[in-house]
Amino acid sequence: MRETLAHHRLISGRAAENGLPGSPAVREGRELVKALACRRCHVAGGAGNRWATSLDRVVWSREVGGLTRSIEEPVEFMPRFGMGPPQIQSVIAFLLHGAARGPGGAAYQVRFAARGGPPRSVFDERCGGCHRALLAAGPAGIASAGPNLSGLLSDEYPASAPGNEAWTPALLQRWLDNPRSLRPQTTMRPVRLEEDERRRLLQEFLAPDRLANSVRAPRTDRGAR
Ligand code: HEC
Ligand code: HEC
Repeated sequence: MRETLAHHRLISGRAAENGLPGSPAVREGRELVKALACRRCHVAGGAGNRWATSLDRVVWSREVGGLTRSIEEPVEFMPRFGMGPPQIQSVIAFLLHGAARGPGGAAYQVRFAARGGPPRSVFDERCGGCHRALLAAGPAGIASAGPNLSGLLSDEYPASAPGNEAWTPALLQRWLDNPRSLRPQTTMRPVRLEEDERRRLLQEFLAPDRLANSVRAPRTDRGAR
C-alpha cells in the first residue's frame, strides 16, 4: 500500500517518509496541522469539521504538486499560512500517513453560493465587513481585517480567547459588547446585536447540522492533541 501510494504519485523528499509513523516529517506535519488549526475547516487525520473538503480524501485524488499549490495559493475562504516548502511537505506527509489507512468518510463540497444580493446571514450583515467564515449557509463575509472565524465555538478553533481559553457563547457575547474588556489592545470595536440577531448568529456558528459536520478524533489521535 505504502509503495503503491509512493510510486503512483512520485512523492519526493519529506513526503516520501509518510510510511514511517514516527518520522520527523509526519511528526512536524501533525504539529503544524494542529497549530494552524486546519481542522476547524477540514477533516485531517480522521478528525475535524467538515466545512471544507476532507484532506484525508483529497490526498487520494490529487498530486502532491497540486496540493502544495492549494496551500501556497489558497482560495478566498482559506487563510494563507505562509508555510515554506519543507513545512508544506511535512503537512502532506502527515496527511498521506493518515490516508494510508484508507479514504474513510464522505467527501464534502463547500457550497460556494452566488455572491452579491442581500446579506444571507447575521454574520454577513454584522461581521462580514471585516471577517470571513464558512457557515452552514455557505461561505460568508468579504474581508480579512479580522481573522477568518470558520469553526468559531467548535472544538477545533484555536483557544484564542483571553487566557488561551476556548471561545464560548458567553465569552463571544462579552467580546462583542466590549472587545477591550477582554483584550485591551484590540482594534475591534463593540458590535451591538439585538437579542434576535445574537440568537441567529450563534445558530450560524453552531448550526443544527454541526454535529453531522464534524467528526470526532479517533482515540489514538486525541491523546496526541
Ligand atoms: C478557514 C477555513 C480553512 C482552514 C483553516 C484551512 N482551509 Fe484548506 N481549504 C479551505 C477551503 C474553503 C478550500 C477550498 C474548498 C475545498 O476544497 O473544500 C480549501 C482547500 C484546501 C486544499 C485543496 C483541496 C482540494 O480539493 O484540492 C488543501 C490541500 C487544503 N485546503 C489544505 C489545508 C491545510 C493543510 C490547512 C492547514 C494548514 C488548511 N487547508 C486550513 C478552507 C480552509
Ligand atoms: C469593523 C470591523 C469588524 C467587525 C464589524 C467585526 N469584527 Fe471581529 N475583529 C475585527 C478585528 C480587526 C479583529 C482582530 C482584533 C485583534 O486581533 O485583537 C477581530 C477579532 C475578532 C475575534 C477574535 C478572534 C480571535 O481568534 O482572536 C472574534 C471572536 C470576532 N472578531 C468576532 C466578531 C463577530 C462575531 C462579529 C460580528 C458580530 C465581528 N467580529 C465584527 C474586526 C471586526
